[in-house]
Amino acid sequence: MNTVLDFQKKKVSGQKITMVTCYDYSFAQLIQKTNVDCILVGDSLAQVMHGHPTTLKATAKLMALHTAAVVRGLPNKFVVADMPFLSTRKGLIHAMNCVDLVMKAGAQAIKIEGADGHSELIQHIVESGVPVMGHLGLTPQSIHQLGGPKVQGKKSEQALKIINDARALEKAGCFAVVLECVPAQLAKEITASLKIPTIGIGAGHETDGQVLVLQDMLGMNPDFQPRFLKKYLNGADLIVGALNSYVSDVGSGQFPKKEHSYE
Ligand code: KIV
Repeated sequence: MNTVLDFQKKKVSGQKITMVTCYDYSFAQLIQKTNVDCILVGDSLAQVMHGHPTTLKATAKLMALHTAAVVRGLPNKFVVADMPFLSTRKGLIHAMNCVDLVMKAGAQAIKIEGADGHSELIQHIVESGVPVMGHLGLTPQSIHQLGGPKVQGKKSEQALKIINDARALEKAGCFAVVLECVPAQLAKEITASLKIPTIGIGAGHETDGQVLVLQDMLGMNPDFQPRFLKKYLNGADLIVGALNSYVSDVGSGQFPKKEHSYE
């Protein structure tokens, strides 16, 4: 299994880090067979698995439930679990209870969105023995504050804040930082100025690694095609096609056949 030390080594040696999201046991079992370095039980599960319009509905209990299922299928992969909406904003005890829940569910690290007001908390979590991944740029838990899923850091003032936030996260003890939907040039500058690895999504190719939502890269939602997304499978068509073949086979008597029946 990879550790935080391996991610650091990869940055130094220039080897790219790969991360995908996973929320359930059956996909976890498939990812276990791959060379993907790191798995994120993202709070995007509120959207992808539960059909909510934003990530705001994810709770600590839900994060722990999905983390436990993923870890059962991925005993040998490094798993990061998201701290859900507002979990870091209700005091230290509340935050630590959430860390406790997801770590006891089997995660190896947690991820926290944003830097404002988080330095002391991150330091405390790291000093408690829990690796913390930061997340800057488009932070979906602040979607209403940001006015929608927009690229962040296009203006120089905004870009400078993201650079300073990234440095603050590194200083607080984060072992890596996700950069979501920021201009490629900004991601490149941040990556060059940090000792810890950066993992990009919609942040160009010069970050130390990449992350994608599993269902997005497998093409499960034909209507979702943001510029940053590459689909590696036409999952939606394959699955809909398979289900329709089943319906037609049952209707025509092609299934089940003798070989599918007990004597
Ligand atoms: O929750 C999530 O899926 C994420 C990734 C987009 C980085 O935070």
